[in-house]
Amino acid sequence: GTGKFFVGGNWKCNGTKDSITKLVADLNSASLEADVDVVVAPPFIYIDQVKNSLTDRIEISAQNCWVGKGGAFTGEISGEQLKDIGCKWVVLGHSERRHVIGEKDDFIGKKAAYALSQGLGVIACIGELLEEREAGKTFDVCFQQLKAYADAVPSWDDIVIAYEPVWAIGTGKVATPQQAQEVHVAVRDWLSKNVSPEVASKTRIIYGGSVNGSNCADLATKEDIDGFLVGGASLKGPEFATIVNSVT
Ligand code: G3H
Repeated sequence: GTGKFFVGGNWKCNGTKDSITKLVADLNSASLEADVDVVVAPPFIYIDQVKNSLTDRIEISAQNCWVGKGGAFTGEISGEQLKDIGCKWVVLGHSERRHVIGEKDDFIGKKAAYALSQGLGVIACIGELLEEREAGKTFDVCFQQLKAYADAVPSWDDIVIAYEPVWAIGTGKVATPQQAQEVHVAVRDWLSKNVSPEVASKTRIIYGGSVNGSNCADLATKEDIDGFLVGGASLKGPEFATIVNSVT
């Protein structure tokens, strides 16, 4: 792998004050391998609760943010506000925002650039739909999404790439370690050719899509899998800890 193993828990639009109190308590009492960056992404409205109760061992991410400076943008949350409340990271380009909400590549690229300008780290998601995989377009789709980030951002220092094949998200159909590794290598190769060999070798590429406590260890053995972005299984503290501790 490249750099420090990175495991993010994306809670998506789940939880209540009570369930999050329990999840935070479970995370606070979990023993986590030292050499892993661990991040959780609660819904916006619970970030302050989590910030005030979660161990500093685990950093906090938002799941999205506004594309620019705050102002008259009803219902949005700005990068400045995320910094103010104690977030270190923001997830951008998640498939649910691309395919359910309709966010486009250039809009996502602009979000990434603005978030970086505010001092946030970006978990930059990419990934193909099932029909795109079946049409042999997996690399084309991933490269196009990567290019939109590359065209917009001034630096890759604070970016972690999350490869999340859409057919594997929330379906229980995890990519095989070989399928994930194949795309991760291709992404690294794309970075080497289109950004720089240094960025390719330093940027962490994490896998997401039905990662759980049972399949994480096999995936983690792959050379170019530098961690995970976990959805459903991140809502269970002990299972999330198992995934964090799958670092090899
Ligand atoms: O951001 C996380 C991914 O969408 C994966 O979700 O682990 O529930 O499949 P999942």
